[in-house]
Amino acid sequence: MTTTVNVGLGARSYDIVIGAGLIDQADRSIAPLLAGRRPIIITDDQVAATQLPRLERALGADCQAIILPAGEATKSWQQLERLTDALLNLGVERSDKLIALGGGVIGDLVGFAASILKRGCGFIQVPTTLLAMVDSSVGGKTAINVRAGKNLIGSFHQPSLVVIDPSVLATLPDRQMRAGYAEIVKYGLINDAAFFAWCESHAAKLLARDPDALATAIAHSVRTKAEIVAADERETKDQRALLNLGHTFGHALEADTGFSETLLHGEAVAAGMALAFGFSAATGRCATDDANRVTQHLDAIGLPASLAAAHVTG
Ligand code: GLY
Repeated sequence: MTTTVNVGLGARSYDIVIGAGLIDQADRSIAPLLAGRRPIIITDDQVAATQLPRLERALGADCQAIILPAGEATKSWQQLERLTDALLNLGVERSDKLIALGGGVIGDLVGFAASILKRGCGFIQVPTTLLAMVDSSVGGKTAINVRAGKNLIGSFHQPSLVVIDPSVLATLPDRQMRAGYAEIVKYGLINDAAFFAWCESHAAKLLARDPDALATAIAHSVRTKAEIVAADERETKDQRALLNLGHTFGHALEADTGFSETLLHGEAVAAGMALAFGFSAATGRCATDDANRVTQHLDAIGLPASLAAAHVTG
């Protein structure tokens, strides 16, 4: 079954399609948007080993693949230059739609490259991590990291389509599943107590990759995000800022741990949300019981919910 969620942004509206096996059917969803141009897929060396052959098979023999190193360090000036040089060498035109096959790093980098290449070409997101599926592939935030901090150079550039195939999660490491789950819980915590309660009772199933639990959580998350993005695309009206719950603390924790594997982005967001709720409770903005409930849930599923658990030293 395929679920479709539309991000309503006028002329820049696009669909998010969700369904197991959609990568194998990219000839139906992605190919029509390429208008006969050859598919150009950008991915990383880990995803290339598992998912690239599926997408290439579906899209046909003339695919071009650009494979970048996996990891946060790829969101850099150096890799942006490498990528844009490679794309220019391939003769990319403004009418092309680059295909970003990967997690948040690939999606953010390819989206940024697409926003500046020849003053802007199109791109399609095919997220392969839970975190990218429920957050970074939707909404058009693109960026690289620079010396002064994370995501400080970037653009708003909406994709033309997001293809979410939860079957790719079968090979995603458990730690990455948990990190992505932090962004799912976030949707419950920002404005949806019933969904947070659902998370409390379904987290174990979801993390065990139960197809129904995953389908429910992914669809709910992208629907919520699509509504917020449609209402406040550029974060100028205080609505999209809700999606940054835990991120201010989280980015500081990531900086302290050197944007490294020590603390994945989703783990930093989990710890950041626990700290944000703790701060709110300490300053009388929420009930201590609510803050404790958040910490207990994150802790119970193995996400860091304190500075110590986030390996922060200072
Ligand atoms: N990840 C937060 C946002 O897309 O606004």
